[in-house]
Amino acid sequence: MTPPEDALHTLDVPQRLLLGPGPSTVPPRVYRAMIAPVVGHLDPAFVAVMDSIQALLRYLFQTENALTLPISGTGSAAMEAAVVNVVEPGDDVLVCINGYFGQRIAAMARRYGANVQTIERPWGEVFTGDEVAAALERRPAKVVAVVHGETSTGAAQPIPPIAKAAHDFGALLLVDAVASLGGVPVLVDEWGIDVCYSGSQKCLSCPPGASPITLRPRAVQKLEQRQTPVTSWYLDLLLLREYWGAPHKYHHTAPISTMYALYEGLRLVAEEGLEARWARHEDAARLLWQGLAELGMPPHVAEEHRLVSLTTPRLPGGIDEAAVRRRLLLEYNVEIAGGLGELAGKVWRIGLMGYSARRENVLLLLAALRALL
Ligand SMILES: Cc1ncc(COP(=O)(O)O)c(C=O)c1O
Repeated sequence: MTPPEDALHTLDVPQRLLLGPGPSTVPPRVYRAMIAPVVGHLDPAFVAVMDSIQALLRYLFQTENALTLPISGTGSAAMEAAVVNVVEPGDDVLVCINGYFGQRIAAMARRYGANVQTIERPWGEVFTGDEVAAALERRPAKVVAVVHGETSTGAAQPIPPIAKAAHDFGALLLVDAVASLGGVPVLVDEWGIDVCYSGSQKCLSCPPGASPITLRPRAVQKLEQRQTPVTSWYLDLLLLREYWGAPHKYHHTAPISTMYALYEGLRLVAEEGLEARWARHEDAARLLWQGLAELGMPPHVAEEHRLVSLTTPRLPGGIDEAAVRRRLLLEYNVEIAGGLGELAGKVWRIGLMGYSARRENVLLLLAALRALL
């Protein structure tokens, strides 16, 4: 057999400005980190990087949690790790669904044998603590799961009232912070989140593939007391703990270059400082919201519940939204995304995440939209 001629073209991808729901634009320093030499996954030099990654993740999550590490995989792998570790077959799990990613958590929990009950809100709205408490009153659950930043709707779920309700009923709280961590406050210890996970390619502006997760001691205790082994060997956090911490026992070959990238991305977060980073994201988002309103495309979500890192402008009638996005990509090199699920065709999804969250990017996008519309 000979290699197919037409598959041999040079790798040729453009440099885009990524203003969709992720990945976001990767900063040069992160690219540079990825060309550091690949060493063994148990090399002392790599173990030192692992230790630093964990320390910086604790800062990022604002937690003292010992069990804090990156999962080798994308945000969905971290979601799956969160679910499969704390859920045993037959466990009651309450999932709050107000968008696409809440649905995904429920689907995963069902696959792992949980008795899933759901409460729902219209896409773009958020839950109150009372709604969660009422659901737990009707039927207790061992785990409550909620999405902090719903990338499908642009809504930001206030976490402390949900944490209170879950804890009042003795449940663990699992929070998806894939679209929010590093861009808006996620205060794991202060808010009382028991299991929190994220991704690398959104507000951290790293390539996809290394997804932070952290567990409070009471969640770790649940793991240690499981009656059944974790259904996924690859995502078993007690096994991963032995690789990421002493005795650094081989579990799987970590994606070394992806971890270098995460390390550099976390260094950038620490150098900027979380407060300054949150302020930068908010500043860019406010400029975007104002510009979109002037264009006749107000954000879908009420201002008090808007996710700073992801905005969903309502589309004016009569435009071919896919054609506008295509021209934006091909003529301006700017990526934004269409709506997902029940908001498809009704909104766009504009991400201002990590390195992409800058005023100059907002001004460029607004100017391009003005020209195209
Ligand atoms: C809120 C949320 N959760 C989970 C995921 C899944 O992450 P990934 O696509 O990296 O697997 C995403 C991705 O967009 C997300 O936005």
